[in-house]
Amino acid sequence: MKVLLTGGIGYIGSHTLVELLDSGYNVIVIDNFYNSKPDVIDKVKEITNKDFKFYEGNICDKKILEKIFNENNIEAVIHFAGYKAVGESVKEPLKYYRNNLDSTLTLLEVMKKHNCKKLVFSSSATVYGKPESLPIKENFHLSTTNPYGTTKLIIEGILQDLYKSDPTWAIAILRYFNPIGAHSSGLIGENPNDVPNNLMPYILKVASGEYPCLSIFGDDYETHDGTGVRDYIHVVDLAKGHVKAIEFIENNIGIDAYNLGTGIGYSVLDLVKTFEQVTGVPVNYKIVERRPGDIDACYADASYALEKLNWHVEKTLEDMCRDSYNYLKHN
Ligand code: NAD
Ligand code: UFG
Repeated sequence: MKVLLTGGIGYIGSHTLVELLDSGYNVIVIDNFYNSKPDVIDKVKEITNKDFKFYEGNICDKKILEKIFNENNIEAVIHFAGYKAVGESVKEPLKYYRNNLDSTLTLLEVMKKHNCKKLVFSSSATVYGKPESLPIKENFHLSTTNPYGTTKLIIEGILQDLYKSDPTWAIAILRYFNPIGAHSSGLIGENPNDVPNNLMPYILKVASGEYPCLSIFGDDYETHDGTGVRDYIHVVDLAKGHVKAIEFIENNIGIDAYNLGTGIGYSVLDLVKTFEQVTGVPVNYKIVERRPGDIDACYADASYALEKLNWHVEKTLEDMCRDSYNYLKHN
């Protein structure tokens, strides 16, 4: 089966690319390197010992998508491409609406024209806003607190409307919880260019000595130690979820959303302590004020993905910390 990955050189895309190539898929990738680097292409080839076709370009540009669909018999698409920094989306909402929505609409139009109706979409647990209870199930009320999250919610709505207009589409909406970790080779991982917004990339900067200290945003949340609780998931487990989703939509039309998380909530301090234990590297931290918009706790009920996609996680928090650190050491 020929699968197109948009944004396939990014953090989650590159790990999914490895899993798809290892599973025998014929994969085509497009990325504009807005938030990734070209050397990932060779690293994926080195890991898998397999080749894939790559196009450099912006998927808001219909011409390049037309070229890809004309030159390749694309049967399914995994749509990762998008901007993802929550804080930046609050400051520059138009940039986020333009890129995330324009790219998706252009992609869907070209897919429709070429009669390619199988899609896996990267959504986020951010669409649950402040959840009414825990663990979070797919049928919970959806709302968002920032423009980034709103782009995800709008796109989910667009996909529902598209399906209503033509029920021969097969669409899997994957709502990721908090991906961390890296491929065990240490060759690919998450390496933000700017000051990281997310916890694990920041811990790595402190562990490497680049930054002196981690700021923990609040210790007065309603959690077991007062720090924020999240559902951290190993990026390789997450990547495998995409292979399962592709297998599923290959044989089933319809539209559905799936939580991809572990179902376990760990606090900021749990993560810091586990990282220190696994790596032997101390992580200096200080408690500072809460970050606006953060919620106390967020973790998935992932039983629907198990039931429908036959997907479950295999890796532990220790694996996530070890592999994140291993990637740091290689880079
Ligand atoms: P990433 O930034 O590492 O990867 C996204 C890739 O898309 C990058 O390589 C970037 O260069 C590319 N891209 C962006 N706009 C493009 C465009 N218009 N045309 C072509 N390429 C474009 O992000 P990621 O962490 O791999 O996330 C992948 C997807 O998953 C995103 O849609 C993101 O919103 C979503 N998601 C991520 C997380 C997370 O914590 N990492 C959580 C939930 C959802
Ligand atoms: N945190 C700190 N210090 C930091 C960074 C984070 O204490 O320097 C804390 C946060 O307050 C939170 C936890 O670590 O309690 C996790 O924060 P992240 O920024 O790593 O992740 P979020 O849960 O806030 O958000 C992430 C992505 C969103 C996505 C969401 C759910 O940034 O895009 O996970 O998938 F929507």
